[in-house]
Amino acid sequence: MKIGHKKLRQLYSAFFNELDHAQVPPSHLVPQDDPTTLFTGSGMQQFVPNLLGVAHPLGDKLFDIQPCVRVQDIEEVGDNRHDTFFEMMGNWSLGDYFKKEQLRNFFTFLTHTEKGLGIDPNRLYVTVFEGNDQVARDEVSIETWKTLFDEVGIKAEVGDRIRMYPANKNWWSRAGEPDKMPAGEPGGPDSEVFYKFDGEHDPAFGKECHQNCDCGLFLEIGNSVFMMYKKVSDGTFEELPKKNVDFGGGLERLLAAAQNDPDIFNTDVFSTIMKAVEKATNHSYDVETCKPALRIITDHLKTAVFIIKNGVTPSNKEQGYVLRRLLRRALVKMRALNKNYSIDSIEPIIEEVLKTYDDIYFETTKDLKEILPVVMDEVAKFQKTLERGLKELDTLKSVDAKQAFDLYQTYGFPFEITQELLAEKGIHLSQEDYDKEFASHKEKSRSSADQKFKGGLADKSEQTVKYHTATHLIHQALFDVMGNSVRQEGSNITAVRLRFDFYCAAKPTEEDIKKVETIVNSHITSALPVGFKIMPKEEAQTLGARSFFKEKYPDQVKVYFIGADEDTIREAYSKEFCGGPHVANTSEIGKIEIERFKKIGSNMFRIYAK
Ligand code: SER
Repeated sequence: MKIGHKKLRQLYSAFFNELDHAQVPPSHLVPQDDPTTLFTGSGMQQFVPNLLGVAHPLGDKLFDIQPCVRVQDIEEVGDNRHDTFFEMMGNWSLGDYFKKEQLRNFFTFLTHTEKGLGIDPNRLYVTVFEGNDQVARDEVSIETWKTLFDEVGIKAEVGDRIRMYPANKNWWSRAGEPDKMPAGEPGGPDSEVFYKFDGEHDPAFGKECHQNCDCGLFLEIGNSVFMMYKKVSDGTFEELPKKNVDFGGGLERLLAAAQNDPDIFNTDVFSTIMKAVEKATNHSYDVETCKPALRIITDHLKTAVFIIKNGVTPSNKEQGYVLRRLLRRALVKMRALNKNYSIDSIEPIIEEVLKTYDDIYFETTKDLKEILPVVMDEVAKFQKTLERGLKELDTLKSVDAKQAFDLYQTYGFPFEITQELLAEKGIHLSQEDYDKEFASHKEKSRSSADQKFKGGLADKSEQTVKYHTATHLIHQALFDVMGNSVRQEGSNITAVRLRFDFYCAAKPTEEDIKKVETIVNSHITSALPVGFKIMPKEEAQTLGARSFFKEKYPDQVKVYFIGADEDTIREAYSKEFCGGPHVANTSEIGKIEIERFKKIGSNMFRIYAK
């Protein structure tokens, strides 16, 4: 049976519903109040506080399907298994079940012919943490795998079907290996499952084939992380209050395994988009040499659509820069395959992306109207730039890092595009030299974005937490001064400032803004306690807790309140639906200054404060 992505989603939900897991809505692809990462890159990101010990409003057993973008993988796209946008199917136990149950559940989901994917267990190979000087070899996982395989008549030996690896392979945290984890970051040993496809080992990748060999025979399809440690400042590990499970498996890869076809681009989350790309470029996906470029175009345009849907437009910084880079890279590849590709052929590709996920993340007709103009605007800009830039490139015999940087500044040519265009002319440009050039130009916004390409880290600095609580105070103070028409439209916090966007029926005057600032500071000096309570959504609404209208909330929500305790929460000065974190007392914030106030649209305003 060929399982499509819609069927896979249904099976996954039904499987975990039966196991009494609550379904959690995915978090935003573009994190709202987290300056440490540009995009949500793993399913566990929204559960970090819960893994560290905070109760989750929906209970201790959870699952979701989380859209993720990992831009750090951009260079890898082109082979049969890497993509920049993917969906992570995840399940969590917050101190409820642990290793034995987790491994059994996932094994059942993979192999069961009705409740699961019906994969032949002979195809499955696993890996387990071999231990280090701080954390012992994971004997429980070894024994569990032996039992599970034994039950289906397979004798699983350590060193073969069960393979042991060190921390660089079988330890997971957002920062990677134990040594790379900052203090406060949760992590733990993990156990991965691999699917083995038919074929011969390619000796170019090493003498012997094994689970983590990159020759393409093995594909990792799921990772059960046993999150039970927290890094502490002296570099050692402390046990978390609970032994948690954090599981994640890529939807695209699970589909590939279910179809016994190693190419994720043959699954139905890519195949129809690929058809439109074949048409636009006039090249067939059956031709081996065209595959990398066709995959890059398909992947990048899909990712771009998801990013645009989240409100981002192309620019030269942060998420906007990533979007620009993805679109431009896709266009360069289009051009490489077909110099005369028609601009009109882009629309069907975008439409196929929307149709693929219609009813899941998009409403095709409505979204096409909003997303297409953003894409086409960038296409037009890039066309112009490209023509001018190419002319200039043609006049140059060789190009050094400085000239490449000028091309970036003048024409907006992202480095890798300059590099690719030069490669067509047989000129090599090193990233290192270019980076040096870049550094000397102190392009702060972009280089800070580059930092964040490396993936979101726990580094919720104390300052960002303070700004987060200050944002709640500003929100309430705006109501105090401007009345009930105020509605939060967005918020963005970095380590150096907070930004708050809101709607208001009347334009606040300078005096109004001054008043808001005074009110906020008086609540800071009053040293009000900050707390939270988990409650049903209706109860929170009845209490008058403010929510963010753009957000979908689950049935159980967390409400942060300022200036009351749990019993007097109704009287609290501020009450908001919010995941946190926050300071414990407003006095920790220090003084707040509203530095800038401006109109950003009709009845829309923006505040910057420090
Ligand atoms: N956090 C783990 C991962 O991203 C499992 O969900 O692989």
